[in-house]
Amino acid sequence: MSLKSHFLSALEGTNRLHPPVWLMRQAGRYLPEYRTLRERHTFLDLCYDAELITKVTLLPIRRYPLDAAIFFADILLPLKALNIPFHFEEKIGPVVENNLDFDHLPTVDAAHYKHQFSFQTQAIHALKKELKVPLIGFAGAPFTLAAYILEGGSSHHFEKTKLFAYNHPKKFAALLDVLADLVRQTLLHQIDAGVDAVQVFDTHLNQLSPFEVRHFILPVLKKVFHKLPVPAILFAKGSHAALLSEVKPTALSVDWTIDMRRLRSEFPTMPLQGNLDPVVLLSGKENIVKQTKHLIEALPNDPAYIFNLGHGILPGTPPESVDVLLDTIHSCYPAAL
Ligand code: CP3
Repeated sequence: MSLKSHFLSALEGTNRLHPPVWLMRQAGRYLPEYRTLRERHTFLDLCYDAELITKVTLLPIRRYPLDAAIFFADILLPLKALNIPFHFEEKIGPVVENNLDFDHLPTVDAAHYKHQFSFQTQAIHALKKELKVPLIGFAGAPFTLAAYILEGGSSHHFEKTKLFAYNHPKKFAALLDVLADLVRQTLLHQIDAGVDAVQVFDTHLNQLSPFEVRHFILPVLKKVFHKLPVPAILFAKGSHAALLSEVKPTALSVDWTIDMRRLRSEFPTMPLQGNLDPVVLLSGKENIVKQTKHLIEALPNDPAYIFNLGHGILPGTPPESVDVLLDTIHSCYPAAL
């Protein structure tokens, strides 16, 4: 079986080799090669140049035996298509300007989007020529994007977002609906260009109650995931897995607060992805081996399991820790099952 079909076969529930592995934020600041590039380019420079996108996407693939590449970009880039200004500040992170007029919300124009993001098409074409493993495209989910817009950036308690949802439920739902169109456009654009699978990041969904998830989130996620032409993974922090399965993603990706054994018994056949705590990779070799084996043993010989972290790899991760992680996974599966 070729490496390429390894990740995709787990998404079909038919994997017979070791669980495929990739890591959220695998092309990021923990890599010395990435930090060297960042001395010469801003983060957004890297995101807007086809050659640099290609180069950065390939950095972790050149260094480690990973089973999938993730296209280098950011969940905020598509906001450009709605004329919502944003930038990244060193040591602070994203800063987003909420310039929305809720009586006249912007709409997404597919042809304009394709033109505006044609550099991504070029990068995806170049990557498909270069890669022997599948390429994953991605987008932020409508709620996570709405939270960045309404908070103006990262947040601890998400008061602005929640108060807006409580006080203006119709406007909040209308914003999520516009963002659902944007997210779908983002994914279809990457799929047309050639990505093999996509992942939607609803990172901040752990901020909402089950009632709010059912009321506000399920309808828009259903719109985003409806009949996408490639396998589509839904990542969310928190414990809304049962509700999110109603969206019918190909796979669910969960954080480390979820017991994988229990999740598997709840969903006997659904492809699952996750969920090592990224902080484990900051600890010593002994703990990395122990925790990785513990996770592998929770889903033994599972044909529908993809190994990943429960959230993005942390910038302070020693690059050698990823070698320890990958060696441990591979040593649990010495041969084809
Ligand atoms: O996974 C990958 O390697 C692909 C690239 C990728 C990035 N961001 C690159 C990035 C992906 C998939 C993302 C997703 C993303 N971006 C999410 C969802 C997943 C998650 O981590 O929650 C979110 C919420 C964002 C928004 C964002 N972008 C934040 C909050 C930050 C700052 C975070 C920090 O640690 O400073 C970014 C910047 C960012 N996105 C970096 C990278 C490599 C660091 C930029 C730098 O070089 O300084």
